[in-house]
Amino acid sequence: MTTRLRGIEEGDLPELTRIYNYYVAETSITFDIEPYSVEQRRNKWYDGFDPKGRHRCYVAEVDGQAVGWACSLQFRPKAAYDSTIETSIYLDPRMTGRGLGAQLYRKLFDGLAETDVHMAVGGVTLPNPASLALHERFGFRSVGVYREVGWKQDRYWDVQWFEKRLRD
Ligand SMILES: CC(C)(COP(=O)(O)OP(=O)(O)OC[C@H]1O[C@@H](n2cnc3c(N)ncnc32)[C@H](O)[C@@H]1OP(=O)(O)O)[C@@H](O)C(=O)NCCC(=O)NCCS
Repeated sequence: MTTRLRGIEEGDLPELTRIYNYYVAETSITFDIEPYSVEQRRNKWYDGFDPKGRHRCYVAEVDGQAVGWACSLQFRPKAAYDSTIETSIYLDPRMTGRGLGAQLYRKLFDGLAETDVHMAVGGVTLPNPASLALHERFGFRSVGVYREVGWKQDRYWDVQWFEKRLRD
């Protein structure tokens, strides 16, 4: 198994959209409810990345196949929030639990160290032991749980929020 981490490319979109749509349809991990077309994912997600900027995305490729990504996204649109990013990380469900998430997060935070991003935040729908372990390993601090903020699959879901200071 040969693993390569690299910046996202437009040609990754069909496979990454397929992976994301699995989590949209089958899980509460994302609060999106409707699946995306590749074109929608390009417009609403891919086009927002800048390989040298605050909002960037790295892909894990295994034996030449894109199997997951970690990215930094705009946290909230009001301008004073621009020094903060929200992280997001997804792997093909067949590729979890093999260290790829940790490799991708390391790549993302190494990349963000080149920027002026001050704080990273992340929200984890509970329960998600793998994601909780990943965020704790990378030095995120839990700041609390928003109770029942998501309605999906006929029930409410809690979200635990994390923060990590990237620079003073
Ligand atoms: C969350 C996710 C990115 C983690 O990546 P991963 O490659 O599976 O995790 P890794 O193998 O790198 O392990 C990272 C840590 O999680 C722990 N872990 C992994 N799977 C676990 C599981 N099922 N239960 C408990 N801990 C788990 C590992 O032991 C490791 O902890 P450590 O550093 O203390 O040893 C991945 O599982 C995934 O894509 N899950 C589905 C999508 C998702 O939940 N995204 C995050 C949304 S907030």
